[in-house]
Amino acid sequence: TSNAMWGGRFAAGPDAVMEAINASVSFDRRLAAQDIAGSRAHAAMLAATGILSHSDAEAIREGLLTVLSEIEGGRFEFSPALEDIHMNVEARLKEIVGEAAGRLHTARSRNDQVATDFRLWVRDQIDAADAGLAALQRALLAQAEAGADWVMPGFTHLQTAQPVTWGHHMLAYVEMFGRDRGRLADARRRLNECPLGAAALAGTGFPIDREMTARELGFDRPMANSLDAVSDRDFALEFLSAASICAMHLSRLSEELVIWASAQFRFVRLSDRFSTGSSIMPQKRNPDAAELIRAKIGRILGATVALFTVMKGLPLAYSKDMQEDKEQVFDAADSLMLSLAAMEGMVRDMDANRTALEAAAGHGFSTATDLADWLVRELGLPFREAHHVTGRLVAAAEARGCDLPDLSLAEMQAAHPGITEAVFEVLGVHNSVASRKSYGGTAPDRVREQVAAWKERLG
Ligand code: ARG
Repeated sequence: TSNAMWGGRFAAGPDAVMEAINASVSFDRRLAAQDIAGSRAHAAMLAATGILSHSDAEAIREGLLTVLSEIEGGRFEFSPALEDIHMNVEARLKEIVGEAAGRLHTARSRNDQVATDFRLWVRDQIDAADAGLAALQRALLAQAEAGADWVMPGFTHLQTAQPVTWGHHMLAYVEMFGRDRGRLADARRRLNECPLGAAALAGTGFPIDREMTARELGFDRPMANSLDAVSDRDFALEFLSAASICAMHLSRLSEELVIWASAQFRFVRLSDRFSTGSSIMPQKRNPDAAELIRAKIGRILGATVALFTVMKGLPLAYSKDMQEDKEQVFDAADSLMLSLAAMEGMVRDMDANRTALEAAAGHGFSTATDLADWLVRELGLPFREAHHVTGRLVAAAEARGCDLPDLSLAEMQAAHPGITEAVFEVLGVHNSVASRKSYGGTAPDRVREQVAAWKERLG
């Protein structure tokens, strides 16, 4: 038999393969709550504008709540023959309220309906991601506050560069995740216009009130162009793009945790709750969560590329290609939320090994720049010459198998006769970080200021 919703001109129903490729209810059922919210707002508007009787509208709005409770209670039977969530809900509504259900789709199309539902869904995900990011920032901030003056090696090229503070390193990620939140907030602002009322593509002849449905659904305003309203998926692409950048940040932090948790570094100990063992090697404590988060960007960026590829080249307005938007966004959103939660737990629970951090901070001639700066400041050497003198001292220390502070004053003076005992003060890692007081620098005083500022911002 032909389709109950659109089968009027059809004599036969779809082939099984046609049904299989066409049906989306197996995944777009995740839009149920948004679909019902959109339909309830639409019905209220149809009544307010006199297009629908108040009694029909009330029956529809009540009936939709029943459908929602059935879906949420797992008592709803989804039918692939009814293609998608929109027609599944409407068909069930008809069973509950009868003929009135058939009036709900007045002045509406599945094209503006799905665009509305999906915007609402993505908006919820943006809000959830923002909350997850805020929680992660708080966990990082707690680490930063506890270790504002703990020294550790700062790296470039993963080679020891200069000592930094643990708090400063943690705050670097607080900044990154703050930018991620900013990108999501920007995306939300542009997303928050309502497509409902664009109908199939051209608008409608019914005297609808698009301001009312927009307001009802928490949108700032209706979208201004009906063609754009049903064909735009920028909002999903912006969410995916922001999610990809965030996933990239999460992946970088994960990589650091994997390195830091290794026996060679021992900078951190991940809690039992966020570590796993090996089935053969009894000594193992593996950072699986960090590794999985590091990998999740593959899915999230993959979804972004997939949706860009679906959308490129689509003529206005709606094409069925766009049904392929949802699974990508669902999977990316799920991956992001899980990653944020796992990272927050890992960071909150992890123990930084202050002793190991400090020991490592002094290795690898990490205060060579401080020595060169001292030669400039105290002896008036041009920086390039100071760099050269310091390089000779590094070579001397390396030849002796010691670090810079272990050289004797005589050895120092062999490189430059003007060097005095006072030089040893700048060779200590604590003096080194304390001296880097420039705005945005690693000095503990600066870190404490930034911690206070972020605490205020995060509330
Ligand atoms: N299931 C469809 C989608 O996800 C809903 C819109 C269908 N519209 C249409 N004219 N076939 O995009």
